[in-house]
Amino acid sequence: MSNLSGKHILLGVTGSIAAYKAADLASKLTQAGAQVDVILTGAGEQFVTPLTFQSVTGRRAYTDQDLWGNEAHIMHVSLGKTADMLVIAPCTASTMAKLAHGIADNLLTLTALAATCPILIAPAMDGGMFDHPATQENLKTLQSRSVLVAGPAAGHLASGLSGVGRMIEPAEVLGHIRAALGKKGKLAGKKVIVTAGGTQEALDPVRVITNHSSGKQGYALAQAAIDAGADVTLITTPTALTPPVGAKIVNVKSVQEMLGALLNESADALVMTAAAADFRPKNVAKEKMKKRDGIPQIELEAAPDILKTVAGPGVEQKRFNVVVGFAAESQALLENASEKLKSKGLDLIAANDISATDAGFAVETNRITLLFADGTKENLPLMSKTEAAEKITEHIARLLE
Ligand code: CTP
Repeated sequence: MSNLSGKHILLGVTGSIAAYKAADLASKLTQAGAQVDVILTGAGEQFVTPLTFQSVTGRRAYTDQDLWGNEAHIMHVSLGKTADMLVIAPCTASTMAKLAHGIADNLLTLTALAATCPILIAPAMDGGMFDHPATQENLKTLQSRSVLVAGPAAGHLASGLSGVGRMIEPAEVLGHIRAALGKKGKLAGKKVIVTAGGTQEALDPVRVITNHSSGKQGYALAQAAIDAGADVTLITTPTALTPPVGAKIVNVKSVQEMLGALLNESADALVMTAAAADFRPKNVAKEKMKKRDGIPQIELEAAPDILKTVAGPGVEQKRFNVVVGFAAESQALLENASEKLKSKGLDLIAANDISATDAGFAVETNRITLLFADGTKENLPLMSKTEAAEKITEHIARLLE
């Protein structure tokens, strides 16, 4: 369940070839649990039909025909009053101009003028049109009125040229909607730092020692915190994942770099999801180790324990109000986790039984027991990493209260 669940989203679709992407966006919003009402402009209808949207949202899509129907006199007001957000994606230069100047000559722009909910636009147009002083002025006007602008992106344009004007991808628009809806969430105004992924400890310029961590649990936590309104910094090792929209990303590789990224930080909460190395090569070869030199003897040394260094008992300066750790254990789950809870100065540890095939690294689910500093514990059933992230985020909000 994301923060879109149960939300009423009005999706305006205007006349751009990117309108086909709006069908995907409507589908993604619906799958995330939102009630999606689509309003097509006349030009939007030239690219995609109302039926396309009705098929993915399960609700009727509105067009300018509805301006002259029985309920016309209330529709343009009621749609924008009951919605949690009006999203216009794609939003053409023409619609941007109408919005900026209060022109209300179709159902969508009428609705926008009457709307009391937040408005988010995803511009889509040719690069020259986007760069035009008129569009840039309109953009500034809209932003000064708190209209959220997502994109446009650089890339291939329908004109065959390249430039800035492409609508951003539906998944990214969705991320912007989630971040905007989160603003009133339980973690609004709070700063949360999440670490994610397996660290990489160099042996030489081409080889590293690493682990199987995918970063999924950490990325899910960063997204859940954004959904709840937090200002999120995600300190991540290289992963195959797309970072959540709205997170400030800090890229690191080794334990040392991750620790370095944390040393100058303070936050309301620190969530150490990263699988940080315990050992690292004592000496890193400057040049690539060659086969002809024989099998190398690699001496390891202890890597710094990040949690103990920044939050452990005895650390004088308390820079994080709530500290959450993870314990990946293959045996004696609760004993080991509760020892880590104490020795690392944690408020909460998520103990994860990685001996089960459906939990731990690189799978979609986790079987977690939450242990708290006050001695209480909560067994979570087998759940997706997204659900686990939401649960942990709820506890962080509670602990911060
Ligand atoms: N951790 C850390 N610094 C390290 C290693 C781990 O801060 N160098 C953090 C992890 O991010 C996690 C918690 O400590 O939140 C527990 O990690 P885990 O690997 O389970 O425990 P270790 O302390 O490394 O102990 P062991 O590997 O012996 O189980």
